[in-house]
Amino acid sequence: MKMLGIHAFTHNASAALVVDGRLQAFAEEERSSRLKGDPSFPIGAISTCLAEAGVRAGEIDGVSIPFRPLVGALGRISYLLRRPAGVPERFADLAGKGMRILGARSSLRKIGIVAPARRLDHYLCHGLAVFCSSPFDEASVLVLDGVAEAWTGALYRAERFPVPALHCLGRLAYPDSLGLVYAAVTEHLGFRHNAEEGKVMAMAALGDDRFTASFGRVFQTDGLSVFVSRDFFDFGGAWTTRRFREAFFPPRDPSEDLRQEHFALARGLQESVEAACLSLASNLLEVTGTQDLCFTGGLALNPALNGTLAARSGCRRFFAFPAGGDAGAALGAALQRDVDPAWRLNHPFWGRRATQAEIRDAISAGGYAVISQGPASSSRAASLLAGGAIGAVFRGRAEMGPRALGHRSILADPRTPSTKDRLNRTVKRRLPFQPFAPAVLEPACSEFFPDGRDSPYMLRTVPVPLGVRGRLPAVVHSDGTARVQSVRKGDASGLSDILESFGMETGLPVLLNTSLNRKGEPIADSPGDAIEIFRETELDFLLLEDLLLTREAVR
Ligand SMILES: [Fe+2]
Repeated sequence: MKMLGIHAFTHNASAALVVDGRLQAFAEEERSSRLKGDPSFPIGAISTCLAEAGVRAGEIDGVSIPFRPLVGALGRISYLLRRPAGVPERFADLAGKGMRILGARSSLRKIGIVAPARRLDHYLCHGLAVFCSSPFDEASVLVLDGVAEAWTGALYRAERFPVPALHCLGRLAYPDSLGLVYAAVTEHLGFRHNAEEGKVMAMAALGDDRFTASFGRVFQTDGLSVFVSRDFFDFGGAWTTRRFREAFFPPRDPSEDLRQEHFALARGLQESVEAACLSLASNLLEVTGTQDLCFTGGLALNPALNGTLAARSGCRRFFAFPAGGDAGAALGAALQRDVDPAWRLNHPFWGRRATQAEIRDAISAGGYAVISQGPASSSRAASLLAGGAIGAVFRGRAEMGPRALGHRSILADPRTPSTKDRLNRTVKRRLPFQPFAPAVLEPACSEFFPDGRDSPYMLRTVPVPLGVRGRLPAVVHSDGTARVQSVRKGDASGLSDILESFGMETGLPVLLNTSLNRKGEPIADSPGDAIEIFRETELDFLLLEDLLLTREAVR
């Protein structure tokens, strides 16, 4: 059976192709369209999946969409009608999205897919994606996002055999949404919701606690439920209320400088969200009697929250899905139609792979000379990094989710404090307080990041021992934590060779690893994208598959 899952018409459109119950390909539309967070019909992502799996459009047996528009409309309208201000204009957006999803079949027919399309429960799709991907045979599954259909989260007990099944133990009903609160405060702080929440999370580490007590009143938790204060938030209206603005401060204009009160609000938000999630996760583990916790939904893209859940919820093992946002629900939608119970996610590299001809053409068009090829290129790249170079790697299939994990990455030496500023000045242009993350060879994890073992998807922050922080200044956040990617020798990331060589030269098998893109751009998808970034920035080298290019070596 060839099942296609598609997430369409809202942020981060995506497609996932599952054949005989096992994932074959996953792609987000933004990678091919080059439009960050592209919300359109994922025609490019579908093409990528078909090409990677060697499947023709006419061979698709079924299509699934992780969203039921009518359930959503009916669920939300009752709340919106009760609002004193009535139904807001924003409802028209929901209705428009619903109509487009109902009409998805005609979009599919245009590209030759004639199989029937089914619309499925959004939260069950999220939940299946994370649980089937996890290493667990039974687990508690927590899904938390902004809003979909009439809900904002769901809690399950899951078992893998004889077929993966999720038993729903509770749902969070709109408008009680942890994700929408995070989005509302992100907007209040002058950033774009569904895009810049990571900046707010980074700010939290620098804030004082002046708003902690006030923000603590935003959420009330009770068993498997969370309630959001209606005094502070109105998701049918301007999101934050007059009372919120009086209790804290007016919305920040994006052009305004960031002040300490902005950082303090970010801290109040992050701490309150973590406390509410911790309560939900702990109670869920107690109710299910399971020891392992799966976490997904947009909230699971918050590494500090993941770190807290992993360390303090009482779970034995923790697993977050690398494409935890709505894009990843496309995988769950496909798996809901056909799943091999034994399938698990062993690596994140399910996106597009460049052809040899594309690579040759891109190098030729860029005018660069290859200075090394074959296995020696990795150790040569490691030597350049040890000498202070900042370089990029582009190889194999693209990562799923927002983190670059070695196939579309920029690498640098983490020992030098100035690396971060140089990287920001020349390529990334992040805000100065946003941290970069380390990739570390697993045997060394216990020395440098004892709590970061078995973290291949770079999804949770862990404390960095005091004695280590000064040795890795470019990858430790201001609160002494780091978002670690643990790399096993010979794993699919391809990073272990470079880390090993770098470790032999420096005594430190740790590298700064960040995504291969410029500010506001999706991660590079083609060799042409990689060459363009190399040409337009001050990266010192580019490793394209096993071909090493340097800035100086031109034809
Ligand atoms: Fe979602």
